Parts: sequence; structure tokens; C-alpha cells
Amino acid sequence: MLRKTIFAAAGAFAITAGALLVSDNLVRPSHADGHGAKVAAVKERQEAMKAVGGNMKIIAEFVKDSKGSAAEAAAAARKIGEIATAVPDVFKVEATLEEMDTVGKNRAKPNIWSDWDGFLARGKVLEEESAKMASALDGGDAGAIQTQFGAFGKEGCGGCHETYRGPKVDG
Ligand code: HEC
Repeated sequence: MLRKTIFAAAGAFAITAGALLVSDNLVRPSHADGHGAKVAAVKERQEAMKAVGGNMKIIAEFVKDSKGSAAEAAAAARKIGEIATAVPDVFKVEATLEEMDTVGKNRAKPNIWSDWDGFLARGKVLEEESAKMASALDGGDAGAIQTQFGAFGKEGCGGCHETYRGPKVDG
């Protein structure tokens, strides 16, 4: 399903030949002109963020509704930690919401690149918070899981979105 989305997107932008699946969720053109590379970069980081969102849902459903198992939620937290390590890579191509008409709808604010170190620091925080989330889930203490889940969303996700993500885009 994810692969289908990736290939449909890649086909639409005629980069199929250069597309290479580097992990479950990330796709990267090996060859592309500047514009094609930007469009592909936007798709790639959005796929990465969607994967983060999908794993977050697994954790949230466990924490709030006791759906699934702690082990599944911990695995999802570790997966988010892995994707967090790819933040520098998937965001390295500058393509901001200010050039949305040409690079595709996106919510990436220009300060990601003007304050690159600050942005990467937020990626590190997500990595750390994911590891703490996985440990809390492994530990099995309901109170500790709840507390860490709050910190995870606030620090891990919100801390970056507040500063570096722009308003929601329609469509
Ligand atoms: C290092 C910064 C950073 C962190 C940390 C981060 N995000 Fe994001 N996220 C972004 C940016 C920037 C965008 C907009 C990307 C774009 O549109 O090009 C985004 C977009 C998203 C999207 C929309 C994807 C799409 O285009 O449909 C989701 C869902 C999301 N993030 C979930 C999360 C969750 C859940 C967490 C925490 C577990 C998280 N993010 C942590 C920076 C971050």
C-alpha cells in the first residue's frame, strides 16, 4: 500500500527510473534535475512523517484505548526513533512552503534551513523521546507510560512542529 503510493507518486513525477527504495518508507531518486529532486524530496519527507504518524497512532491506541499490546507499541516507538535518525537526510533538500506551487504542497517552514542546527536538535529530541517511550512501554508501569506519552507528543512532536511546521494545506 505504501509502496503503491510511492510508485504512483514517483511515476507522476517521472522519476521512476531513478527511484530506489532505501527502506520501508523512504524513496530517493538517484538522478534528478534540481526541480525533480525537490519534488521527490518533499514526497520523501512527507512519507517519512506519515510513517511517524502511523506508528504514533499505534502507540496512542495502546495508551489511550488499550488496543494492541505494549510490545507492539514499543516496537512502534523504536520505529519512530529510527525514522528520527533519518531527519537530517530526508530534510536536507531545501523546499519550503513558500515555493509550494512548484514543489508540491508542503508545510516545511524556511527556518528549517536557516536554523538547520536547531531543527536537527529537534530530530535528536524525537530520537531520545522515542527511546524513553519504548523503555516505559517495556517497563509496563501504567503511570510511567502515561507520563512519557505526554512528554513524547509535546517534546518529541510538538516541539518541532510548533517552530518548523507551517499551517495545514488543503488537498
Ligand atoms: C524535526 C522536526 C519534526 C519532528 C520531531 C516531528 N515532525 Fe512531523 N513534520 C515536520 C515537518 C517540517 C512537517 C511538514 C513536512 C512537509 O509538509 O514537507 C511534518 C509533518 C508531519 C505530518 C504530516 C505528513 C503529511 O504530509 O501528510 C505528520 C502526520 C507528522 N508530521 C507527525 C509527527 C509526529 C506524530 C511526530 C512525533 C512522534 C512528529 N511528526 C515529529 C517536522 C517534525
